[in-house]
Amino acid sequence: ASAPQYEHLIVSTPKPGVGFIQLNRPRALNALCTPLIIELNQALRQFQAEKSVGAIVLTGSSKAFAAGADIKEMKDLTFSRAYGDDFIESWSDLVTFLKKPLITAINGYALGGGCELAMMGDILYAGPKAVFGQPEIKLGIIPGAGGSQRLTKAIGKSRAMETILTGENISAKQAGEWGLVAKVFDTPDECVNGALATAEKIASYGQIAVKACKEVVNKSQELGIREGVEYERRVFHGLFGSQDQKIGMSAFAVKMKPEWKNE
Ligand code: CAA
Repeated sequence: ASAPQYEHLIVSTPKPGVGFIQLNRPRALNALCTPLIIELNQALRQFQAEKSVGAIVLTGSSKAFAAGADIKEMKDLTFSRAYGDDFIESWSDLVTFLKKPLITAINGYALGGGCELAMMGDILYAGPKAVFGQPEIKLGIIPGAGGSQRLTKAIGKSRAMETILTGENISAKQAGEWGLVAKVFDTPDECVNGALATAEKIASYGQIAVKACKEVVNKSQELGIREGVEYERRVFHGLFGSQDQKIGMSAFAVKMKPEWKNE
């Protein structure tokens, strides 16, 4: 089957095992209109289903990762339509159904919904001019795609309160120091290439273990330490039922490179 054509995305598989999605709505700084979000969910769903893809990279342009939800689209939205149609709920599909690791490579503006989308990544990488922020307060609203929850978990309550209540931006350097992102790169290209290289590395491992890693780390966001460690141990024990565990440990014992079966 030929790859679906997207209006607002560029989708490719540039390296073995790596799915790559670029937001491509340059004239609106990648503002996240509903058709873009629908396409993004389609592209992610396709990579999720594609056996040969082990990890996914999501990026924007060097000027903007995404400048937020589409303000022009939201301008005339009413409470009853927002509530009645569960406005923005479909965004959470991105995190709740995606089992493969998602790396977000952020250059330029990541504001409002753009910051929230960036934070849905399992790993965040930033370029030197990345700008994070939740400016919703300036529009008379609040973050609506998880910003108040994910930003607070990522950088702590006081910093998140300051960011969300003032609408002030967070620089790439600050985001690195606060641990909002895993790495800050020297150029936009290095940021995207770094994300692709990390995705390629992840995709080169046994995919059962990769999936389990993501699952247990995500549990730490929801469970207390005791339940979380118990959960981890159940999954850990389960991996001794996989072939990849036998393959990985036997290869180590004879100093060979493992040939994963993903079984
Ligand atoms: N929605 C719709 N259009 C947007 C947009 C957005 N979020 N952000 C930028 N654009 C459009 C602009 O309207 C402009 O279009 P026109 O050429 O047709 O006028 C085009 O993109 C270029 O933008 P600017 O001329 O403003 O570019 P700039 O370089 O001067 O400024 C900016 C860049 C600081 C990012 C500025 O565009 C800006 O402040 N954007 C809005 C940021 C924002 O408030 N985001 C939060 C949205 S609310 C939200 O996301 C809710 C939620 O939690 C889900």
